[in-house]
Amino acid sequence: MKKIGFIGYGQMNRMLVEGFLQTSAVNPEDIIISTRTREKVDPLLERYPDVRVFKGNPEVAEVADLIIIGVKPLEVTGVLREISDIRNDKIHIVSLAACVGTDLIARFHPGKITRILPSICSTIGEGISLCYHHESVDPESARYVEDLFSTISTVKPIDETLFEPAGDLMSCAPALLSRIFLEFALAGSRHCSLSPEECLDMVVTTAFGTALMLQEGADPEDLIRQVATPGGITEEGVKIFERDLPAVFDKLFETTLAKYDLVKEKIAETAGQMP
Ligand SMILES: NC(=O)c1ccc[n+]([C@@H]2O[C@H](COP(=O)([O-])OP(=O)(O)OC[C@H]3O[C@@H](n4cnc5c(N)ncnc54)[C@H](OP(=O)(O)O)[C@@H]3O)[C@@H](O)[C@H]2O)c1
Repeated sequence: MKKIGFIGYGQMNRMLVEGFLQTSAVNPEDIIISTRTREKVDPLLERYPDVRVFKGNPEVAEVADLIIIGVKPLEVTGVLREISDIRNDKIHIVSLAACVGTDLIARFHPGKITRILPSICSTIGEGISLCYHHESVDPESARYVEDLFSTISTVKPIDETLFEPAGDLMSCAPALLSRIFLEFALAGSRHCSLSPEECLDMVVTTAFGTALMLQEGADPEDLIRQVATPGGITEEGVKIFERDLPAVFDKLFETTLAKYDLVKEKIAETAGQMP
């Protein structure tokens, strides 16, 4: 069994560790964690005492076959620098960070590199993990990583240049969709005596059913036609969305893509300042 190192134990790496343990994809004794605030791992250790927590990132690099880096984008190059001289030809780096390209990682790590963009939906075994393997990755190692992430998500191999716009659609989407559901529910509660909670429950339950129908092959335009009969009431609502939503979603992509560029510039600056 490969030893899997996790650097950083925040939202994403916690989700991955929990998911890999729950699905038995990885044994507790094969998991090694280092993170800035070590106490955050204590609740995991109470349930899985065989998981190892190391003081520093270099110690993880001494033993791990694969290291999943789950720190914030601007912190990635610092971590890479710490572990760059340790067994690097033997370690397969998997970076979860948005905006940190494999070419930049390759400046610090001459070994195998994969980028994965996970979704918080994988907390419940759902959602997509975008995946891109750098040219350094052989087919067997690529399959290993894809199989591992398939235990908690649907793995979607994708060209690295598409990570940012696709990230909006699957990684940012749980936040974006929650905002939409919440606004829908709040508007409902402003226009009747139902509580916001009751409205949200109706929206979410219906969104779940709608998503299932679409996932099972229903065509969205057909579904719209079935519910929004010509001249009917729903059609009035659909018309409002048709008129107003394209601009809203275009604005969303324009804004997030510009922000990705800014963060990338900052990361490149940080990396450039490194000895
Ligand atoms: N959140 C999402 O939905 C999502 C989705 C896709 C991709 N991502 C990517 O996943 C990465 C992690 O995101 P996250 O939401 O899990 O962030 P997070 O909750 O802030 O977790 C980051 C973790 O890294 C630790 N850390 C920071 N610097 C470190 C260092 N030098 N050495 C060791 N550990 C260090 C932090 O320690 P402390 O506990 O002391 O802060 C924290 O535990 C990011 O790069 C992000 O772009 C996130």
